[in-house]
Amino acid sequence: MNGAEMTRSGGAESGAGARGARETANMAGDAFWRPRLVPAASAGARPEPAASGARVEFRGVSVSYGGKQALAEVSLDVPPGSVFAFIGPSGCGKTTLLRCVNRLNDFVRGFAITGGVFRDGEDVYSLSRSEDVRRLRRGTGMIFQKPNPLPMSVMENMTMPYLEHVKSSAAEARERAVDCLRAAGLYDEVANRLNAPAAALSGGQQQRLCIARVLMLPSRLLLMDEPCSALDPISTFKIEELLSSLKGERTVVMVTHNMEQARRVSDHTAFFLNGRLVEAGDTYTLFSRPREEATERYVTGRM
Ligand SMILES: Nc1ncnc2c1ncn2[C@@H]1O[C@H](COP(=O)(O)OP(=O)(O)O)[C@@H](O)[C@H]1O
Ligand SMILES: [Mg+2]
Repeated sequence: MNGAEMTRSGGAESGAGARGARETANMAGDAFWRPRLVPAASAGARPEPAASGARVEFRGVSVSYGGKQALAEVSLDVPPGSVFAFIGPSGCGKTTLLRCVNRLNDFVRGFAITGGVFRDGEDVYSLSRSEDVRRLRRGTGMIFQKPNPLPMSVMENMTMPYLEHVKSSAAEARERAVDCLRAAGLYDEVANRLNAPAAALSGGQQQRLCIARVLMLPSRLLLMDEPCSALDPISTFKIEELLSSLKGERTVVMVTHNMEQARRVSDHTAFFLNGRLVEAGDTYTLFSRPREEATERYVTGRM
């Protein structure tokens, strides 16, 4: 039985064969990522991404919750180093697919998946040991719709997860934190409140703090589920600038309901409807010359 034929259910971290070794090698072999500070003027430019971000592939992925189908036969390639947007009406399965990449749905009772989800060629649902699944999740930065800062200071939010995962001095961690806060376009706003509680920041600042926090770690893959849905236009703009600056170094898969945002920042877009992938392609083509009528209706706001 190969990976694509297997059925896996929520709660069980079981699967065929322990193929964790390659994941370990990938994580250990990564050059440690340094935040790249991109001047605003060049952040909108779209150089072809280099291939140091992770590659993600979905092969015939079908998902159900308690027997009710949420995704049907989705196959999709996310090229390394790209920003990839998932779009489609609420309930079409975008979040479900995103959460398959780091197996967050394992916690959902009644969740079942068939098909394969591959990260850098490795079938993530074949990881059988819980420590391998934890390593998979640690190697993936996850940003949720609602920012989730830790109940501590701005600086501690930045340094605590880093010091937990990376052997480093507190001074080095703080220095890196400043670089990452700068990369997230937040530093100037919080420079004199680094020891204030993160909860005192505005929603947009908290979301940028959460993004800056994932930048602290060397994850080559960021998953973002409607990261700007609760933000004002200025915070949204800063996050879009940041996403553009990450191209090449990290792969970003993001769910967005904002068509303009998908157009502005993503290299590739996939449109979903009723649990099916309608079409996927480079963003410019999908928006300007969609193959399917449903895509056209959706991207022009007529659905
Ligand atoms: N935890 C869950 N339990 C049961 N059904 C779920 C759960 N999460 C999502 N679903 C169902 O799966 C389908 C896809 O949902 P979701 O992935 O959240 O869509 P989207 O992110 O596109 O709005 C919906 O019908 C939703 O009701
Ligand atoms: Mg969703």
